[in-house]
Amino acid sequence: MLLVKTIDELREQLKPLARQGKKIGLVPTMGALHNGHGALIKASAAECDVTVVSVFLNPIQFGKNEDLGKYPVRLEADVKLAESMGADYVFAPSVAEMYPDGSPMTTVRDEKLEEMYCGAYRPGHFRGVLTVVSKLFNISGADVAYFGEKDYQQVFMIEKMVRDLNFDIKIVRVPIVREESGLALSSRNEYLSSDEKYKALGIHEGLKKAKIAYSSGERGVAKLRDLVLKSILGNRGIVQYVEIVDRRTLQRCNGLLPDDIPVTILVAAFFGKTRLIDNIEL
Ligand code: PAF
Repeated sequence: MLLVKTIDELREQLKPLARQGKKIGLVPTMGALHNGHGALIKASAAECDVTVVSVFLNPIQFGKNEDLGKYPVRLEADVKLAESMGADYVFAPSVAEMYPDGSPMTTVRDEKLEEMYCGAYRPGHFRGVLTVVSKLFNISGADVAYFGEKDYQQVFMIEKMVRDLNFDIKIVRVPIVREESGLALSSRNEYLSSDEKYKALGIHEGLKKAKIAYSSGERGVAKLRDLVLKSILGNRGIVQYVEIVDRRTLQRCNGLLPDDIPVTILVAAFFGKTRLIDNIEL
């Protein structure tokens, strides 16, 4: 496994492999790797000839008052985990390597979706994500890229960007990996105290209750949302949003859900100072 820090070196490594017809898989990450990332790396290693894990804490997707400064950084451990899961390359560029002119003026946006759900509370976030992901696609020339479904809006927007801008890359979604307790794995779980971590289980509990109610025939959006809201509030969480969306379009559903629409519940909530997101397909 090779640790590569510059764009030129990564291209020098990958171009000959692509010319030999090797299938290149990319797993974009911001580091602080956990088993959720492990599942992405394993999926790539199983399906591709070469797996590249990018580790880049992308400053332009963080707002001024967000956690960029305290986001866990541990490249050595990340390299070990990536290697043990089957990665061939870790690409860990500096901020100056990725953005030599400072914050880029050329960016990629989805003007509508960037203002919805997480985007409504994190101005500029999805512009930063789509921009860095586009750069990583172009730098690596990967054939396939792997993203986790915990960041449901993110993977939806990346898939849409790939269609809208005709990127020649396949996007693979990998299901959420959860702790045995049900808590979705996230690098931000490290910020939680043990009490907050226990209370944060209220998110998944609420989502499961809504799924059971839906399976038993409940179609009222307000009633289904309420089950999630109560479970979070009952655990002293602060809800940012709970929305039921049509998963083909990510548009918000209201009233009664027709049976022929595939829907997903999206949640963002704070436990203490930590913002967590989760979702469940009904
Ligand atoms: O999901 C993440 O970790 C990041 O948003 C991504 C896709 C690596 C872009 O920085």
